[in-house]
Amino acid sequence: MKLCIALDNPTKEENLKLAKELKEYSKDLWLKVGFRSFIRDGREFIVELKNMGYNIFLDLKLYDIPNTMADAAEEIAKMNIDMFNVHASAGIRAMNEVMNRLKKFEKRPLVLAVTALTSFSDEEFKEIYGKDIETKALEFAKDAYEAKLDGVVCSVWEALEIKNNTNENFITLTPGIRPFGEDAGDQRRVADIKTAKENKSDFIVVGRPIYKSQNPKKIVKQILKELK
Ligand code: C5P
Repeated sequence: MKLCIALDNPTKEENLKLAKELKEYSKDLWLKVGFRSFIRDGREFIVELKNMGYNIFLDLKLYDIPNTMADAAEEIAKMNIDMFNVHASAGIRAMNEVMNRLKKFEKRPLVLAVTALTSFSDEEFKEIYGKDIETKALEFAKDAYEAKLDGVVCSVWEALEIKNNTNENFITLTPGIRPFGEDAGDQRRVADIKTAKENKSDFIVVGRPIYKSQNPKKIVKQILKELK
């Protein structure tokens, strides 16, 4: 299981400060660059992080018509990013087109599909998708598997079922992790490291419990110890 840290700080300087502070662990760590920092700091920021030796997960959750998604995927692949994601709800045809477009790259990024956002309660989810989270997340995961993506973004609570119904090697990346039972914030389906391990999560995503901590390095060290 690998640790992926969400760089959701309000400024580039704070994100870079955190990345520098954790540099000694860079080979073992993935940094998740999301909307906020990518919209603000762009490619230059990614290059800076890559130069420090980090693995980069670009969390832009692409959702558009198939051709536009494939165009975006191609530009992402040119950026030397290690992993990015799309919404499974964009459909199998869109996911197929993304994977086809990436065939020309000798080394392409891993591609994950978002199933259900971990901030959804069951009720909220049903209102939009018409089914309960477990059922629909599994359907989305099967679509992503069929389209030959590398894995999915899901909550810990769906991760094992998804692996059991696809393949052992189909990646599950699970946000909403509160490593040692910290405050959930706006997340609804949180889990700790032990539960993530039991459910065979491949990547855990941790944001606020690390970047808002007084001593991020100490927490990261503790988490990495637990993951061994
Ligand atoms: O601070 P926290 O640990 O809750 O951060 C979780 C990160 O994972 C955020 O950057 C959020 O955008 C992202 N994420 C999520 N649920 C998903 C996909 C991504 O929480 N399904």
